[in-house]
Amino acid sequence: MAGQTVNFKLNGEEIRAAAGWTIWQAARAAGVFIPTLCHHEALHPFGACRLCVVEVEKDGKKTLEAACSYPAAEGLSVETETPRVQKSRKMTAALLLARCPSVPLIRELAARLGVAEDSLPLKGRAEEACILCGRCVRVCREAIGKRAVSFAYRGPQRRVSAPFGEEAPDCIGCTACVFVCPTGAVKAVRQDNRLRLSPWQTELPLLSCSACGRSFAAEKVLRHLHGLQKASFDPETLCPVCRRKQVGEALEKVSKLGKAGSFPPGKEQKQFKH
Ligand code: SF4
Ligand code: FES
Repeated sequence: MAGQTVNFKLNGEEIRAAAGWTIWQAARAAGVFIPTLCHHEALHPFGACRLCVVEVEKDGKKTLEAACSYPAAEGLSVETETPRVQKSRKMTAALLLARCPSVPLIRELAARLGVAEDSLPLKGRAEEACILCGRCVRVCREAIGKRAVSFAYRGPQRRVSAPFGEEAPDCIGCTACVFVCPTGAVKAVRQDNRLRLSPWQTELPLLSCSACGRSFAAEKVLRHLHGLQKASFDPETLCPVCRRKQVGEALEKVSKLGKAGSFPPGKEQKQFKH
C-alpha cells in the first residue's frame, strides 16, 4: 500500500524499504550493489539468470533467492556476499561463459568473478550471443504490446525466435529489443530503405522523410505510434531532424513578429477588444 514501509536486515544493517519493493530495489536504495543480467527496470522481473542471488533468512531457514524478484519483507535477514552466494554466482557465470564464450560482457563478468575460461566444456556455438535473458521477449510484450518473438524449444535447443523461425509478422521495427539486449545478440541494420533485424530474419520497409528524403523509421512503427495517440497516420511525415528544423523556423518567425511589435498582442488588438 502507498506510503507503507517494511524493515529488514541487509548485510547486518537494519534498513527500511517501501512496501512492494524487491530486495534488489531496497539494496540499491541503500547503496548495496547486487549484480544483475536479465533484470531491466522498465520490465517485470523474470528471474532467469540467477546472477542476482542473495542469501535470505526467513523463519530460521536460509535459502538462495533472486534479489530482482524476491519481495522485501518485514523481518528478513539478507546477505549479499556470503561464500554460498559467491559460489552460485560463479557457477552462473561459468555456465554463461560455456554458452556464449565470445560475448565481451560475459567474458568480463566471468573474469570479475574469477571464473577460468575452460572451467566448463564449451556448450554453445562459438558465435552464440544470446544468454536467454528474455529481455527482448518481455519488452516486445510489455512495452510495445506485440508478440513478435518468443522462446522456442527446450533444453540446449532453447532459443528466442520469431514464430516458426521465419519472418516476424508482428514486428513493427521499433528496435526496442536491440536496446534492451545486454549482449548485442539482436541487431538492426538499415540498408536500401529497409530495416533488417537479426536474428529474427525480419525485414521492414522504411519511410522516407517528405522534406529531406532520408529514410528514418519503419512505417509500421509510425502507424503504431499514431494508433496509440489516436491520430490518423500521415505518410507525408518529417524525420526528427526536419521536424526540429520546422519547429525552429516557426519559433524564429514568431520571435521576429514579437520584435516587430505585432506579437504579443499590440495596441491595435487591444483597441479591437473594446
Ligand atoms: S536476444 Fe538478447 S535480449 Fe533476447 S534473450 Fe537473448 S540475450 Fe536476452
Ligand atoms: S537479474 Fe535476477 S535473476 Fe537475472
